[in-house]
Amino acid sequence: MFTLGVLASGRGSNFQSIIDSINSGFLKAKIAVLITDNPEAYAIERAKNHNIEAFIIRPKEFPDKDSYYSHIADVLKSRGVKLVVLAGFMRVVGRPLINEFQNKIMNIHPALLPSFPGLHGQKQAVDYGVKISGCTVHFVNEGVDTGPIIIQAAVPAHEDDTEDSLSERILKQEHKIFPLAIKLFSEGKITVVGRKVIIKEHREDTVITNPPLIKS
Ligand code: GRF
Repeated sequence: MFTLGVLASGRGSNFQSIIDSINSGFLKAKIAVLITDNPEAYAIERAKNHNIEAFIIRPKEFPDKDSYYSHIADVLKSRGVKLVVLAGFMRVVGRPLINEFQNKIMNIHPALLPSFPGLHGQKQAVDYGVKISGCTVHFVNEGVDTGPIIIQAAVPAHEDDTEDSLSERILKQEHKIFPLAIKLFSEGKITVVGRKVIIKEHREDTVITNPPLIKS
């Protein structure tokens, strides 16, 4: 069975969407472990509800960033993890983990990268006044939201949107494209060439608009 390790810092709705995709049979995988940096993360409850082993691993318990991420890499390796999923993990991942899982770490970002990387992507989009926003699943490299893009979904951004209303619209798409990206990866359909991601099959799924933005 294809084995996932999930890192999350908070609410964990993306974590839940992956659990649900496995339970529905859409995704043939198992989640071996949840790792969180936040003892208050609701993701821990979700792990408990689904009998997923959960670890709270806090950076302050380690002398430096490298030893923190070496330890996380060791935990993931010891569980046989083949893909690391960052589901709202609110930290810039350190080199020891990136080196160990080269192009095997996926993140979901609530904006159409390369626009609005970093924190509060939805607020950045609202403040900028864009007409289209969305979300991006990408591989993680050493930058902030700069790795190769796997799947994006677009949603309209309305003139009267607030950060919350746009976030809600984007989140619905996050819950679709993240499990889809993981499924494609688990089926060996994703190849990375330089900074481009080549997806075998499912081409029509790799750019998603909701609703279709231009009517013909
Ligand atoms: C999502 O908006 C995701 O795009 C971002 O952090 C948020 C996590 O939400 N990286 P949740 O914890 O999955 O509900």
